[in-house]
Amino acid sequence: MKVAPSILSGNFLNLEKDLEMVNEYADLIHIDVMDGTFVPNISFGFPVVDAIAKVIKVPMDVHLMIINPDKYIERFSRSGANMISFHLEAAEKEGKDPKEIIDLIHSFGVKAGIAINPDVPVEKLFPYIQDVDFFLVMSVFAGFGGQKFIEASVQRIESLREEMKRCGTIKDIEVDGGIGPDNIEILRQAGCTICVAGSSVFHASDRAKVIAELRGE
Ligand code: DX5
Ligand code: ZN
Repeated sequence: MKVAPSILSGNFLNLEKDLEMVNEYADLIHIDVMDGTFVPNISFGFPVVDAIAKVIKVPMDVHLMIINPDKYIERFSRSGANMISFHLEAAEKEGKDPKEIIDLIHSFGVKAGIAINPDVPVEKLFPYIQDVDFFLVMSVFAGFGGQKFIEASVQRIESLREEMKRCGTIKDIEVDGGIGPDNIEILRQAGCTICVAGSSVFHASDRAKVIAELRGE
């Protein structure tokens, strides 16, 4: 299990300190980009991502919760993103072929992922199993940190893993929202291989301990 702390729950007055903690203890840094249109919240944009890139040593996992994600993929690649995920709902709404967006991400040498909100049937991911590097299954509705984990996500992860096994192609399943030491074991058993953790890590008094627990150490 890889652990990707979400910097959305970090201290924006001193991101450097939080990033150094991530460098020391975690596997990836999860970077939530929100546009106030695809989701009802605005997080941060290029200046912040560029600043993070100067300090971070672990791979940057950029989660785009924006409309027209294809417009910004080149720019986020230049910022140093190692993984970029976009929402299937955003592509569908704009009549864009998700496969073309995946190809675009790959053209910059970046790992590509498709994200879905909890109300999107998980079967909609199945046609892309061969194309993506990872899937991002949201276990809360995209938009805010600190929400409660939606239990029904567990069956969705299981179905996705079963379908991957049936196809003989195993890709990473990243799960995002409401994850902490209390529910990590059930996610691991279901097939989650990358967990995003915002508030459970950054609001903990012993962050290294929480990350180790999430990792299963
Ligand atoms: C929600 C974001 C998440 C969020 C997770 O829209 O995609 O990455 O930061 O935060 P927690 O772990 O607090 O639910
Ligand atoms: Zn996220």
